[in-house]
Amino acid sequence: MSDRTRRIKIRSIGIYLPDRVLTNQDLEKMVETSDEWITTRTGIKERRIASDDQVTSDLGVAAARMALDRAGLKPGDLDLILVATNTPDTIFPATACWVQKKLETREMPAFDLQAGCTGFLYGLIVAESLILSGTCRRILLVGVDVLSRITNWQDRTTCVLFGDGAGAFILEESHDDSGLLSHFWGADGSLGELLLLPAGGTLHPTDEQTVRDRLHYIYMKGNDVFKHAVKRMGESALAALKAAGLEKGQVDYLIPHQANLRIIDATGERLGLDKERVVVNVDRYGNMSVATIPVALYELQESGKLQPGEIIAMVAFGAGLTWAAAVYRW
Ligand code: UT7
Repeated sequence: MSDRTRRIKIRSIGIYLPDRVLTNQDLEKMVETSDEWITTRTGIKERRIASDDQVTSDLGVAAARMALDRAGLKPGDLDLILVATNTPDTIFPATACWVQKKLETREMPAFDLQAGCTGFLYGLIVAESLILSGTCRRILLVGVDVLSRITNWQDRTTCVLFGDGAGAFILEESHDDSGLLSHFWGADGSLGELLLLPAGGTLHPTDEQTVRDRLHYIYMKGNDVFKHAVKRMGESALAALKAAGLEKGQVDYLIPHQANLRIIDATGERLGLDKERVVVNVDRYGNMSVATIPVALYELQESGKLQPGEIIAMVAFGAGLTWAAAVYRW
């Protein structure tokens, strides 16, 4: 077991999922695809899509309010608002500042963190060091993406994969045995071109040509990303377990990033876990990027299965390429 004496813990979790459901059958009417292809290649059956009048901070605020309510806290009780997102309301100000405004609070710092689908676990690791260093006492960490706004709805190789959603943790120092035991994180920027949103930054500033070339949408070499994801997610989970002084047989639940059921299954097998120990919701939500892990942990908690003292391994992978894992004792 980890010999760390000080740890952070999740005081509460909140989530928000838009009402609108887009099924594989709906997608069959939009692009040349089939429910059969999407189901067998990805495990996805349906996904949620934000309404036209919702922006990223709206989903984030809804998850944040639920987390605050469940902790019995008010926005003014927070020391920091940290938002992990790849689909900010605006390039600046940070979505965290829009979230702060909508929570009708002010003064505490607020900033965004962008690390592809790994952003929520990167945020957890950053929040841990801010709390354990004494810089912050209580942090709101939000993971939110509205990928439907950057999805090319004419590209069948990507548009079937993604969904919108938000999750939030309230994080504090732990004063009992529960909490974050270890983490492992990494990145390989040389592989950045495998998964990116090409235009809108300084590389390809927005102009008529970038719009014509449809460069403001997600571009992914799915097959290459798949192979890296399988390798890195397994390795990261094992490295985080080792850092916690645990064996893979001691994991009670695996919460993997939800991009593709085949990647999830491969990661579960690498840890030697039975299927009922691997949390899956990709069938209902698709890939919600940074929201996948907090939403999955919330659903595991709500299922009533999770018992105090049980060991959870969370692992993510995404654009960058980036990867991270965290081991948590409930
Ligand atoms: O969250 C960030 C990390 N992202 C990921 O981890 C995603 C990783 N990648 C994947 O999940 C998979 O690579 C995909 C689901 C994106 C694709 O699955 P695949 O088994 O790698 O398929 P593929 O790209 O090799 O395509 C196989 C075939 C191709 O046809 P040909 O060239 O063999 O004739 C595609 O054109 O399937 C075709 N195809 C489709 N067919 C029907 C691609 N997309 C579709 C589609 N419907 N939606």
